[in-house]
Amino acid sequence: MKTIVLTGAAGNIGKVLREQWSDGRYQLRLNDIKPLGELATHETAYIGDLRDAGFCTELLKGADTVVHMAGIGTDLELDLLIEHNLKALLSLYQAASTHAVRVIYASSNHAIGMYASETDIDEHAAVRPDSLYGVSKVWGEAIARLYFDKHGVESICLRIGSFETEPFERRHLHTWLSHADMQHLVERCIEALHPGFHIMYGVSANTRNWWRQRDNPIGYHPQSNAEDFAERIASIPTRGGPLAELFQGGGFAASDYTKKT
Ligand SMILES: NC(=O)c1ccc[n+]([C@@H]2O[C@H](COP(=O)([O-])OP(=O)(O)OC[C@H]3O[C@@H](n4cnc5c(N)ncnc54)[C@H](O)[C@@H]3O)[C@@H](O)[C@H]2O)c1
Repeated sequence: MKTIVLTGAAGNIGKVLREQWSDGRYQLRLNDIKPLGELATHETAYIGDLRDAGFCTELLKGADTVVHMAGIGTDLELDLLIEHNLKALLSLYQAASTHAVRVIYASSNHAIGMYASETDIDEHAAVRPDSLYGVSKVWGEAIARLYFDKHGVESICLRIGSFETEPFERRHLHTWLSHADMQHLVERCIEALHPGFHIMYGVSANTRNWWRQRDNPIGYHPQSNAEDFAERIASIPTRGGPLAELFQGGGFAASDYTKKT
């Protein structure tokens, strides 16, 4: 049985993956700085801060893959982003290199959020971050690339769209990622033979997707489609005001926007 490290296990996505894996299909090492509650027999808690390089080395020793969901998920102050999205990630990659562990990295659509809505792009399009948070995810993708090119650490960077139980606003017609598709995506990343370095869009099979996956070496085939909810959500404005409708990053792109057009 594979040993999987799940960081950010107390967070939104971490909690869902943990529940989806409650049948014990993997031996799970659960990491967070927050409490993790009661553990099942296939789970071990590793409470600790990923900025600590020694802790990361212990966490990854003997593991097959780390599913890295820990980090700051919003556009908070630069210091916090540097600490948790940059420094912690670097510690994790150093440990992954030491122990030859595959990394599945939670990047974000906010790495490309300044593309105009209705523009189709693929995973090779130039990055266009929409916030300092988005910049921190670009940095993470660059670290992943560096550690593959220089140290052979296999990485799949997931540009996650909108991970929600159900889509609830207009933008989600393009960006929704269902819980079931996320599980399928992460499991394909875990099971793929020699994926090397890759960027994958973490998005469901939405009719109105902006993001095209040109290369799909892991065999990701999403099933959910936000269009099933279109009647209810097409008239619900994207959070962040009218500017948020213009950019793929929605409210993150609209926030603090000062460009005169
Ligand atoms: N939820 C989404 O729709 C979405 C979209 C795009 C990208 N992402 C990315 O996916 C990842 C998971 O998202 P989420 O919504 O579950 O986030 P979340 O904020 O709910 O969970 C993140 C978890 O990471 C933990 N953490 C933060 N810094 C840590 C550190 N130094 N050491 C150990 N644990 C630490 C936090 O305690 C928290 O429980 C994030 O990196 C986020 O940027 C999420």
